[in-house]
Amino acid sequence: MMTIPFPMSLLAELTHRCPLQCPYCSNPLALENVRNELPTDVWMRVLDEAADLGVLQAHFSGGEPMARKDLPELVRRAAKAGLYVNLITSGILLDEASFIPLVDAGVDHVQLSFQDVTPEGADLIGGMKNAQARKLEAARVIVAQGVPLTLNFVVHRLNVERIPQMFDLAEELGARRVEIAHTQYYGWGLKNRATLLPTRAQLEQSERDVASARARFGGEMAIDFVTPDYYADEPKPCMGGWGQRFINISPTGRVLPCHAAETIPGVSFPTVLEDSLESIWTKSDLFNRFRGVDWMPAPCRTCDRREEDWGGCRCQALALLGDATATDPVCRRSPDRGLIDAAIAESADAPLVYRRMSNHKS
Ligand code: SF4
Ligand code: FES
Repeated sequence: MMTIPFPMSLLAELTHRCPLQCPYCSNPLALENVRNELPTDVWMRVLDEAADLGVLQAHFSGGEPMARKDLPELVRRAAKAGLYVNLITSGILLDEASFIPLVDAGVDHVQLSFQDVTPEGADLIGGMKNAQARKLEAARVIVAQGVPLTLNFVVHRLNVERIPQMFDLAEELGARRVEIAHTQYYGWGLKNRATLLPTRAQLEQSERDVASARARFGGEMAIDFVTPDYYADEPKPCMGGWGQRFINISPTGRVLPCHAAETIPGVSFPTVLEDSLESIWTKSDLFNRFRGVDWMPAPCRTCDRREEDWGGCRCQALALLGDATATDPVCRRSPDRGLIDAAIAESADAPLVYRRMSNHKS
């Protein structure tokens, strides 16, 4: 049995409400209804419990976290508990009037998502007209308030060729960090995979573009690059290993090792309405189910990478193979790798399926 580590980060998915409809959204296919969202006082307790458990960073996310009217209160509580507070936002609801209370409450950093550099590209992916202008204004407000800004670009076949312009935009806006993240193909992304998965030539060009941006900016801009695991020979260590670094809390209070864990069948999902974070992290069936290496099937069980990638992504194994205990099919040692190669071969310009709030649970 491995020693249970302290969690490092809490991802607080405050709401699934969002003005955008991105077809690669990491939220579940069935979204939570607003009336089932956790109330303010429960989130306050959870933030205190997270700090007591050793969590260092609180990431307020969604959906669009700025749709929650109590966001300044939650930020204040997290900051008071000693957590580093990161706001992950689309920027659509962010202006001076809504942002200054968050600065006063102690927000440490903002990660602002951009769907593209062109208004047309942004409208196409976000499914909302004139979103780009609001995002540009949000970036200016954040920088003017002196809060460190990261720009996040999710890239895919329809926008990956504009990576150089993404860096130009980041420089112009005064961002300190840029994240170029290839789409991950779970949930909504999997639904739109045939349209969004880049070609190998596009992937290789994106690697060159990021390398030249690193050379251009040196230490002046931090750059993160997330590649699509379909083109890799081994999977990534999803979430840094199941139950090892991250706690994800859904809008209704379910405590999960990752954002997609609710898709796993036959599991009872722990909730902050019934148990403490500490008990859920250390004792729940869900967090212990794929923690460490004891659960692993062959070939992972004897593989020399098993404590590097922790067997890859359980939710990807479930989504593609119907079995969350299987080796991630991205791995070249998996007997099911052929599925990934077939997906790479199959590209199509199918209409995008948008994430819509009408697709919510009752
Ligand atoms: Fe990772 Fe398992 Fe593949 Fe080894 S066999 S590289 S542990 S997924
Ligand atoms: Fe759930 Fe990877 S998204 S383990």
